[in-house]
Amino acid sequence: MHIDILTVLPELLESPLSHSIMKRAQDKGLLTVSLHALRKWAVNEYGQIDDYQFGGGAGMVMMPEPLANAIEELSASRTYDQIIYLTPDGQTLNQGIANRLSMADNLLMICGHYKGIDERIRQKYVTMEISIGDYVLSGGELAAAVLVDCIGRLIPGVLNDETSALFDSFQDNLLAPPVYTRPSDFRGMIVPDVLLSGDPKKIEAWRYEEAVKRTRERRPDLEAE
Ligand code: ADE
Repeated sequence: MHIDILTVLPELLESPLSHSIMKRAQDKGLLTVSLHALRKWAVNEYGQIDDYQFGGGAGMVMMPEPLANAIEELSASRTYDQIIYLTPDGQTLNQGIANRLSMADNLLMICGHYKGIDERIRQKYVTMEISIGDYVLSGGELAAAVLVDCIGRLIPGVLNDETSALFDSFQDNLLAPPVYTRPSDFRGMIVPDVLLSGDPKKIEAWRYEEAVKRTRERRPDLEAE
């Protein structure tokens, strides 16, 4: 998969995408991510990419020209499965959306800043609008980092243990069960016997029960879905 990210602040994305599983995905050649500084397409030599909003009001709006020129230039060498705008008024990201996006070949992500991007860019180019939750970030960069991470780890071959993503929270609308490691007795707190039993069937049944219990207690809305 290849992901292009358009941003005014590429530096903000460099670190989250260069470690751990994201690094492994790129080292294995399963994922490539290119960060594109929007100022490259600025409208003048001062690097202008934003302007005051029509109708007045605080906050700048990202101008349509630099975005349109950037999107058109990038689209000339790739056919994007989706052009995604990260925005608090988009559809809320969940595991189902991540699963679907992990099957794409090419994605373009647009990070908004200030008051956001000119509406006409959303209408003409954007095919999907994603929010990472009901709160407002200073820009779309951290949201894009979250989106790349949760998609990237689902690309087949990225995780070492192919099955491990299947047991993540949310994959079956269930939260993950509790996990334990050594020692089996930590300051008098004992690991459930079943996990030491060596009986895979019993362990699987226990994990499922615990997942259901945890989901009912913490996120009954998931079970209803
Ligand atoms: N940009 C600002 N806030 C955001 C959010 N919650 N999700 C996605 N993009 C954003």
